[in-house]
Amino acid sequence: MNRNKLISFLALLILIVALPVYAWQEPTRMDAAQADLRQEFVSDAAVIYVENCSVCHGAAGEGIGPMPALDNPALQTADYDDLFKTIERGRYNTAMVGWHVEEGGSLNDYQIEELVTLIRYADWSQVGELAAQRGLIPATLPVPDVDESLLAEITALAPEGSQWAAGLQLYANNCTLCHGVNGEGSNLAVPLNTPDIQATDLAELERIIREGVPGTLMVSWNSSLTPEEITSLAEFLQNWDEISAHDLVLTPPEPIHIDVNNPEEMLALGERIYNSTCVVCHGVDGSGGTGPVLNSQQILSRDTDEMLTTFIINGGRMPNANMPPFGDRLTSVEIEAVVQFLRAWEPTAPSVQNPRGTAQGGGPPWLRATPDAANPIDPGTTSSQGQGKGGPPWRDTGVTPGGATPGQGQTDTANATMPTAVPYSGQVVAVADNLLTF
Ligand code: HEC
Ligand code: HEC
Ligand code: HEC
Repeated sequence: MNRNKLISFLALLILIVALPVYAWQEPTRMDAAQADLRQEFVSDAAVIYVENCSVCHGAAGEGIGPMPALDNPALQTADYDDLFKTIERGRYNTAMVGWHVEEGGSLNDYQIEELVTLIRYADWSQVGELAAQRGLIPATLPVPDVDESLLAEITALAPEGSQWAAGLQLYANNCTLCHGVNGEGSNLAVPLNTPDIQATDLAELERIIREGVPGTLMVSWNSSLTPEEITSLAEFLQNWDEISAHDLVLTPPEPIHIDVNNPEEMLALGERIYNSTCVVCHGVDGSGGTGPVLNSQQILSRDTDEMLTTFIINGGRMPNANMPPFGDRLTSVEIEAVVQFLRAWEPTAPSVQNPRGTAQGGGPPWLRATPDAANPIDPGTTSSQGQGKGGPPWRDTGVTPGGATPGQGQTDTANATMPTAVPYSGQVVAVADNLLTF
């Protein structure tokens, strides 16, 4: 016995002494090991990213519309703890919910560390490839093509022309969805090609773009555009009248028409949207994942088409539920198509005991409960049982501070987590490659 103890003690001693010496003698080996570990983190995290985050932040971290890019150099040097906290707890009153299990999410500390490493060291083009391999390319927004000759003509207009051209290019890529291809506005946002805007101070325009307009779809662009880009945009907005006076306008993306009265075309469109946008959470053929099993009698026979449509437009009615709203991303026709696609499962849909089960075991308890008509799932009444102590109280009911107190059954969610519950009613719908166009 004693002898054994002595041997283990000596072994331990050797380890204690030898390890640091070894480490000290082998700094390059250590660096290499660290790089290996980092590489492992990054590849693990890429999978977590494409499955959970790409739907909002883009297949390759490029951002989608108002959802910020993560392939942003500023984030690579951002404070480690800040990044960790953002993913862990989310951002108050935005679609960015807390992802930590204690916040009702599905990730643990280790996975969040991996994601932070990804954001700092990723080769985003590889992440994009992974997303493509898995067929997880989220719906991209239609962006008008900007012709080189248009840019050259704008550049030639004035000494500041090249800045206007840069601004127009940025506008085409980032702003047309809401403000219209030529600044005419849409049912999502105000027109920007107006005398009022042209008369607004440059600094004020820059401020609006930098800070956004809180509580509206106009998010802050500070983290996805550089200060120089924001200045170009503001310069462009101020001089838009002069540019359009020369008939230098953007051409809307060429639409490919889908016959909305042809059920086959609608189903095909619905399938395409489902497989590019919904499959990541609801699984192949609606088999479920982080989102509920949609291919189930429980959901399909209970929800009318209207309920499904409203849900898809507004997104999750429950806090921390991570169902993004699609009202500002898909046209009404596209949403109708995806609803028809879901509806087509109904005749053969199996009865699923627990359609809300979450494959990853995450999510608050009410997401995992079995729905029951007599006893509907109500986060307001069950939240006290375990949404984790970490989250702020409004998380429990989906009301913002100052609103109803936690525990009230009513959840007015569309406004709670997202200011973006906007029904979109585009007229033309089209699909070319992965590009959905209206
Ligand atoms: C439902 C949409 C959605 C999903 C899914 C989502 N995010 Fe976000 N995320 C957002 C929005 C919106 C913001 C901007 C919040 C704000 O305005 O501050 C954001 C912000 C961020 C930021 C801060 C960016 C910055 O420039 O400061 C990070 C980091 C981030 N998200 C990481 C992630 C990760 C990692 C995942 C997956 C685990 C994820 N997000 C999933 C919507 C989403
Ligand atoms: C997701 C939709 C959306 C996108 C994308 C968007 N905006 Fe906005 N924007 C809005 C909304 C909504 C408002 C009106 C906010 C309000 O109610 O005051 C707005 C307001 C503005 C205003 C102030 C207008 C005024 O009359 O006060 C400016 C300037 C502006 N946006 C510029 C931009 C630029 C530049 C981009 C692209 C980088 C952009 N926006 C992208 C939705 C959007
Ligand atoms: C980022 C993950 C995610 C994506 C992407 C997603 N969903 Fe969901 N979805 C969820 C979650 C989580 C729920 C349950 C949340 C809740 O009830 O608030 C849900 C619920 C639903 C429901 C309601 C089911 C019921 O209980 O009545 C429908 C319908 C639905 N999703 C359809 C879609 C469609 C269609 C798409 C694609 C356009 C989509 N979802 C994309 C996560 C997602």
